[in-house]
Amino acid sequence: MSILIKNGRVVDPANKIDAVNIQAQAATIIDAAGKIVASGIIDIHVHLREPGREDKETVASATAAAAKGGVTTVLAMPNTHPAMDCEDNIKLLQGIIKKSALVNVLICGTLTKERLGQELSDIAALKKVGALAISDDGCSVDSDTLMLEAFKKAKQAGLLTVCHCEDKKLSGKGVMNLGFNSTRLGLRGISNESEYKRVSRDIELAAKCGAPVHIAHVSCRESVDIIAAAKKRGVKVTCETAPHYFALTDEDIVDYDTNMKINPPLRAKQDVAAIKAGLKNMVIDAIASDHAPHTENEKDIEFDRAEFGKIGLESGLAISIMELIEKKILSWQELVNVLAVNPAKILGIDKGTLSVGAQADLIVIDAGKEFILEKKSIVSKSKNSPFIGRRLKGLVEYTIYNGKVIYQG
Ligand code: DOR
Ligand code: ZN
Repeated sequence: MSILIKNGRVVDPANKIDAVNIQAQAATIIDAAGKIVASGIIDIHVHLREPGREDKETVASATAAAAKGGVTTVLAMPNTHPAMDCEDNIKLLQGIIKKSALVNVLICGTLTKERLGQELSDIAALKKVGALAISDDGCSVDSDTLMLEAFKKAKQAGLLTVCHCEDKKLSGKGVMNLGFNSTRLGLRGISNESEYKRVSRDIELAAKCGAPVHIAHVSCRESVDIIAAAKKRGVKVTCETAPHYFALTDEDIVDYDTNMKINPPLRAKQDVAAIKAGLKNMVIDAIASDHAPHTENEKDIEFDRAEFGKIGLESGLAISIMELIEKKILSWQELVNVLAVNPAKILGIDKGTLSVGAQADLIVIDAGKEFILEKKSIVSKSKNSPFIGRRLKGLVEYTIYNGKVIYQG
């Protein structure tokens, strides 16, 4: 069955198109007058929680949330139970995806067995079974020699290494950004240094063996500077940030809202400015949600004891429109680049464009539509969003995956 989307403003930076589309004949017609038509979002940092923590989220619930948020491809992070550290576990997840995924789910394997940072996973085997990248996300490998070995093996296997950059010796028992606000709230701080020192180390190790490296969830200004300098000297480094790192600061934790407890933490104003500048000047390649669902039991407790993480699949586009388009930081073309075109390039997948003949993964967005993010309307199994109750702007009207309408707003 064919679908015609007519009268929409097509934003397709890969083909240098920004124009109102023409008319033709089709079985289903979607009138997108006044709307944006773009590639489906490719979100390269998503915690699906299945297998193991189906009380937080499942492949079915996460991909339904993705569809609502305009996301048609996700890269599933490997910190599940069991972790994605061997062929059997990846096959288990692939079986679940086959049965219950509503959007394209790609799998990230682990760098080390059980993500313990002690012994490398069989990286070639992970590639063979279909992993798209490897990461110990949630943890960083402390040993320089083991990390160098991982980069070498990943390069041999043709896999991208995704780095969660955190020196635990420095971040310790911190729960929020280190600074005036952590002191004022009486909470232990996490320094910028605990992130950027590890960014620097991982880039150096990757450069040493010529392996590509992707830095996950960049949150602070020094990390942006280090990545910019590495790119300048030709290192194969890419990176992502998340909407909360350009929409919120540590000042927003005024009332100990644990939905704002995230790792890396919400930083200071200067960091937000650096993240926005990094998106503008293309040092930051991608926006990913770092969708990290947690149950109420794990969040509705003291700040110190609450889990790190927030959901983001359903709010990422609106936050990006409000903070980047409305505030004139990025053009629509530039936004689609960081949401779809570049993430596809990072993963080496043939998506992110509206080229003739490309798989029809696309979204229709009403960029001016306002809505209040309500807990009861959240599709994700977990409701840990710091934006609940806020007025957001930019609503997905249709999500089309592989030529089929999978969500209609
Ligand atoms: O806030 C976070 N939550 N940061 C991470 O690195 C892991 C994630 C999770 O899995 O909950
Ligand atoms: Zn992480």
